[in-house]
Amino acid sequence: MPQSRILVVDDEAVIREALRRILESDGHEAICVNSGHAALEKVQEQTFNLVITDLKMPGMNGIEVLKAIKILQPKVPIIIITGYATVETAVDAIKQGAFDYLSKPFTPKQVKELAQRALDHSKISEPAEEAEEGKLTGFERFIGNSVAMQRVYNRISQVAPTDSTVMISGESGTGKELVARAIHEHSPRRDKPFVAVDCTALAESLLESELFGHEKGSFTGAMRTKVGLFKIADAGTLFLDEISNISLTTQAKLLRVIQEREVTPIGGTKPVPIDIRLISASNKNLRELVDKGEFREDLYFRLNIIPIDLPPLRERKGDLPLLVGYFLRKFAREIGKELIGVSPAAMALLEQHDFPGNVRELEHMLERAVVLSDTDMIMPADLGVVDDELSENIKLGQYAPQTAEELKEIKRRLREEAVLPAERIFILEALKRNDWNITRSAEEVGMQRPNFQAMMKKLGISARDNKINT
Ligand SMILES: Nc1ncnc2c1ncn2[C@@H]1O[C@H](COP(=O)(O)OP(=O)(O)OP(=O)(O)O)[C@@H](O)[C@H]1O
Ligand SMILES: [Mg+2]
Repeated sequence: MPQSRILVVDDEAVIREALRRILESDGHEAICVNSGHAALEKVQEQTFNLVITDLKMPGMNGIEVLKAIKILQPKVPIIIITGYATVETAVDAIKQGAFDYLSKPFTPKQVKELAQRALDHSKISEPAEEAEEGKLTGFERFIGNSVAMQRVYNRISQVAPTDSTVMISGESGTGKELVARAIHEHSPRRDKPFVAVDCTALAESLLESELFGHEKGSFTGAMRTKVGLFKIADAGTLFLDEISNISLTTQAKLLRVIQEREVTPIGGTKPVPIDIRLISASNKNLRELVDKGEFREDLYFRLNIIPIDLPPLRERKGDLPLLVGYFLRKFAREIGKELIGVSPAAMALLEQHDFPGNVRELEHMLERAVVLSDTDMIMPADLGVVDDELSENIKLGQYAPQTAEELKEIKRRLREEAVLPAERIFILEALKRNDWNITRSAEEVGMQRPNFQAMMKKLGISARDNKINT
């Protein structure tokens, strides 16, 4: 039997050592740490086949450790050790993704059997190697296991092998382009071009000549013959993004091209046959636009043969840990930073956020957080956009800081906010007394001029304010 590496997390040395002895006697390698934070450091450094963690620990508790590890190593089975009376919490742990629980007091036999069951299970269900992005879902670059996303993956697999016309709908940033590319990459056309046209980016007249091409001299400025995108995408896939943005006239022309499967370049006389798979996307509700007379109904039916609707992120929050882990690893790798993970309060904040910009918003948020964070944990304050929500929540006392580091961060922010009014009065009064002369004001209060100025800048006070504020 190959040796398994098992991480043991418990604040009590006696239990740690007992578990070490039991696991080592079965030929496993046991690595023991005394806190959740230390556990996350280890998980960052190496992969484990199993994690056994105590539930009640100072700092991060077992459930928090579990959630954080699920982000770093989604596939590793986790066993939670609970006190005799906390079976309910143990059940909760399983709901959160624990493999099983072990109640205290335990016998060596119980530990060995449960550990073996967890190790066997992980071997059957997934290969033991580190969860490589996208392998989880069967589609490269796609993250998320929610039922709603599974439905999307199924649809992609069903339509990819066909030539059917697909219409992708979903809010901004939900992954419409990703779906279009996945369909192409899993289709028999994968070695042929995938051409994406952003219908918003092009002016009406340009859109037509871009799509259909034009003959030299067909209009002012048509210096040479231009091959249209329909032709360029020949034998491949043409992706018409933000299709709702094309005018009714262009819609009519597009309809004809789709019906007849041939294009006539602007100014041309001979139609050219085309062979393309058409995918379109829109973040507006096309059906509504049809009802309002802004989108041709006949074109709508032609395009909407196979609909794929992408769920907004707020409706599949269960995918959040996987997405967060994925982007975290990606950006940390890109800038060569060592990161342990996301603090529980930061994760809670993400769970509460609405994500109007969906996955793209999350992606940008985490990129910024990874760049800006000055510790190895993403803290609530690193999540920029939700900053105001955070301050509000701190003020309302909704965030119990859960690690010493979080407490430090929250203290810093509260202190900062509390002293702002005092700083403001201090600076403004000094300026007033000195006729808004910065050099003299700084001198009078006993500060270096650059520091005085920096404080003005921070408070948004400029020398010109005297005209408005005084
Ligand atoms: N399920 C997902 N897993 C991983 N990354 C995703 C997922 N969905 C979207 N993304 C990422 O989010 C970003 C936005 O995706 P995409 O451009 O496909 O969205 P869109 O629906 O076309 O948005 P828009 O309407 O604004 O054009 C991309 O960087 C994409 O890689
Ligand atoms: Mg898009």
